[in-house]
Amino acid sequence: MGKYNFDQLIDRHGSGAMKVDSLNEFFGRDDLLGLWIADMDFAVSPRIREALSRRIEHPVYGYAGAPQSYWDSITGWLARRHNWNVKREEITYIPGVVKGIALAINFFTQRGDKVVIQPPVYHPFRMVTEGNGRVAVNNPLIFDGNNYRMDLEGLERIFRDEHPKMMILCNPHNPVGIQWSVEVLQEVARLAKKYGVTVVSDEIH
Ligand SMILES: Cc1ncc(COP(=O)(O)O)c(C=O)c1O
Repeated sequence: MGKYNFDQLIDRHGSGAMKVDSLNEFFGRDDLLGLWIADMDFAVSPRIREALSRRIEHPVYGYAGAPQSYWDSITGWLARRHNWNVKREEITYIPGVVKGIALAINFFTQRGDKVVIQPPVYHPFRMVTEGNGRVAVNNPLIFDGNNYRMDLEGLERIFRDEHPKMMILCNPHNPVGIQWSVEVLQEVARLAKKYGVTVVSDEIH
């Protein structure tokens, strides 16, 4: 099996895993498969376990800051993988991606502003938009019977006629699993620039 064993079944019951231990709370029964949550059942990389174990062995768990190596690992990865030179001061820490989207909504838009989402899409995009008093405008993906694609004409129509302040892009798109092509992304960027729309790109996957 090489370095990792993706065939090993790991029982997560009793570990506090929402996927198996919260079924009763969410669905009123616990004989279900947790297919609704994007949560893998593979063991984490040994390097990550080792680093966490090292930290846990230190007996004082006070407030932690992000060391320089934390920022270097992010800017270094972006430079090596994407030839993208990002400065330390251009990035910040957020306690979760959905929280980050909510912060961006609050910073870049006002109550009542429109925010474009492209359903079917990860449902918290709508929840954080509406939960913060903004209006979600749908630009649904187009299904041709086989594949989904982005409705770029629909996007331009909404940008032009409804004057949204923001668009939440999901790339790769959850669900449907599309990694948007360079051409599609360039068109989104062109339209966003033309109509003054801020694009928040969720690239967690
Ligand atoms: C597209 C997308 N964004 C964000 C998240 C969750 O991010 P976080 O738990 O960091 O808020 C998920 C989890 O499934 C997701 O699919």
